[in-house]
This record gives sequence, structure tokens and C-alpha cells, in this order.
Amino acid sequence: MNSFPVVQLAVKPGVIDLAWGQPDPKLLPVAAMQRATELALSKYGSDTLAYGADAGAGPLLDYLAARVERTEGRALNPDQIMLTGGNSDALDQIATNFTEPGDTVLVEAPTYHLAVRILRDHRLDIVPIPTDEDGLRVNDLQEQLAELKRAGRQARFLYTIPTFHNPTGRNLSEGRRRGLVKIAAQEHLLIVEDDVYRELAYDGPALPSLWSLAQEGVVLRMGSFAKSFAPGVRLGWLTGKSEHIQRMALGGLRDSGGGVNHFTAMLVAAVCENGLYDAQLEKFRWTYRERRDALCDAIERELPEATFEKPGGGFFVWIKLPDTVDTQVLRGRAPEYGVDFIHGARFFIEGGGTHFLRVAFSLYSPQELEQAAQRLALAFRA
Ligand SMILES: Cc1ncc(COP(=O)(O)O)c(C=O)c1O
Repeated sequence: MNSFPVVQLAVKPGVIDLAWGQPDPKLLPVAAMQRATELALSKYGSDTLAYGADAGAGPLLDYLAARVERTEGRALNPDQIMLTGGNSDALDQIATNFTEPGDTVLVEAPTYHLAVRILRDHRLDIVPIPTDEDGLRVNDLQEQLAELKRAGRQARFLYTIPTFHNPTGRNLSEGRRRGLVKIAAQEHLLIVEDDVYRELAYDGPALPSLWSLAQEGVVLRMGSFAKSFAPGVRLGWLTGKSEHIQRMALGGLRDSGGGVNHFTAMLVAAVCENGLYDAQLEKFRWTYRERRDALCDAIERELPEATFEKPGGGFFVWIKLPDTVDTQVLRGRAPEYGVDFIHGARFFIEGGGTHFLRVAFSLYSPQELEQAAQRLALAFRA
């Protein structure tokens, strides 16, 4: 009997669970990975099964460096990029290498609730900065930095998701992007840019990354294959200043264990080199665009009391309900109506979000999403 779970995803029977920001398992690239296993093992043989180079498997780094340069117009030296085990691992490593317990770090309000858990594991003091429809409020950031300075403190970094934000789906405007990297340079503030949704853009290309706009050393940008290919590969990459990258690439963890997830990285390199990554991305973009439209149309139709912006990418719609509704209370009864979501307060560390909820459109078909909107409306009216 197999009593241990295989995967993280666990959906209650009969519930369309819009809480999970995960890809639909039916869309995951099983055949591409089968082919990649053949390709990588016949091309690299035992090198796929050895300890990998400390900064990560060379073939995947070669591919990523060229892709980043082509798509973002910024060239990279080999010491300015490394592989990670995805963005959760990268954030954990950054916290390990750039902070000590009790240090202050800044996050957006709202922010990705599970990044907060990682920061809390490192016993960091987490200070939220407000956001609005154009993303992080850069003026408020400046005021917070001044306040910290007056208190004799300095933030170790700002963790931000400027592109297709989780949970809001919003983008930091281009003007604010430029303002933010300028202020960060002046104030010696390290920006940790979580760029996990960059490739999932449905209405035209994503805005330039902070990393591509900033002076050298201002931004450490975390990219990931989790949303753009498959979360189970546990792979991502970091781009940044050589000194920052090397601090992690040459640390004890990699000295002892070699590059992270080396075998998988060699397979993903084969996927990338053989056009299977681009094909998967196309499939995701096309499918998620359709799902986003289905969910947004259905919410508009079924729940006219809700207000939201249609996101241009990513996985999430951030919905505001009338001020009389506490979404945590609504969530308590939603499963009875066969639907679930995450209430807004989960994404704030100092209060807020009471009337908001986050729904993900990645996991379900357009028909199921329409049904979910109907069920949400019923729970709301009850
Ligand atoms: C903003 C954000 N960052 C990071 C992650 C996790 O990334 P990874 O799977 O690469 O660790 C997620 C997944 O939901 C996310 O939404």
C-alpha cells in the first residue's frame, strides 16, 4: 500500500479549488521529459549522473544566458548567472547568504504569502510597503527607508514581484520600475525580484525586468521553470552581480553537493535545446489565456458586485467584494457550495485584504471555471 502522498496538490472531493496556484497536471510535459531523458543520456552519458558544476549544469546555463540576452537585451558574464532549485530555494539561499536573524527585509502589501513563510524561517523582521494599481508605491518605500535610517536600521533587501504579481496579477508600471531601481541604487537597497510569471504573458510581452533596467548590483532576479515548464523539475536561475552570484555559487552547500538538481537540469537543457521548452510555453500561454478569459467573463456575469482587473499574465485574479463581506468568513462556507479560494488577509502581514479574495485559473478547464464562478456567487448570496 502506498500511504505517502506523491504530490503537494490535494483537492477536496466535489470542490473546484481555486486556491491552488498550480498548473493543470494534464498540461504538464510528460512526453517532452521522456524524450529529454533519452536525448540527455545519449549525449552526456555519465555526466548527467555525476556531481554537477557548482553554479549549475553547463548546458542549461549556456541556454539560459543566451535566452536572457536575446529576450532582455542585457548580456551576462558566466559569473553573473547560476541555477537554483526554483524561486523558493533561491529566496531561502538569499536569506541565508545576505541576512542574519533579526535583520529587516521589506515586502509588498499584499505579497506572496509563502515567501513570507520562508523569510520568517530566517527570523527576519518583515516590513510591508503599500501597493496600488501600479504596483509598489515607491514614494512609500522611500519614506520607509528614511524611517529605518532614523532608527539606525537598514533593510537587507526588498522582496518584490513586479510582473504579474501574486496575488494581485498587477504589474509595476514602467515609470515606477525606473524610479525604483534608481532609488535602490541611491539607497544601497538590494532588490530581490521574483520573476516567476514573466513567461506567462497573455496580451503581449511582459514589461522589462527590474534586473534588465538596473545598474549592476542593484537587483538579484529569480527566474523559475516552475510555472513556465513544470514545478516538479525544481529548477530556476538567478541573474545578478558577479559578487552576489558567486557568494552563493561558491558557498559550502554547492562545494559539498555540486550544482542543484543536476540530473534534472541536464534533462531540462535537452528540452530547451530541442525546442520543447518553447513549445510547452506556447501551449501554456494559449491555454491559460483562454482560462483567464473564461473565469473573468464568468465572474463579471455571475457576480456583478465584484470588482477586479483582468490580469495580463500569471495565474491569479484578485477580486474585491463589497465592504460588507469578510472573505475569511465567506471562505468558511465556500466548500459547502463546492468552491474554494484564498481570502485576501492571507497576503498581508499587518492587516488588510478583508474584502478581497484570490482565485487561480491555472488548474481548471473553462467549463469548470464557469461553474466555480456560479458556485462562488451562490456562496456570496447565501
Ligand atoms: C510569486 C511566487 N514566487 C515563487 C513561487 C514558487 O516558485 P518555485 O516553484 O520556483 O519555488 C510561486 C508559486 O506559487 C509564486 O507565486
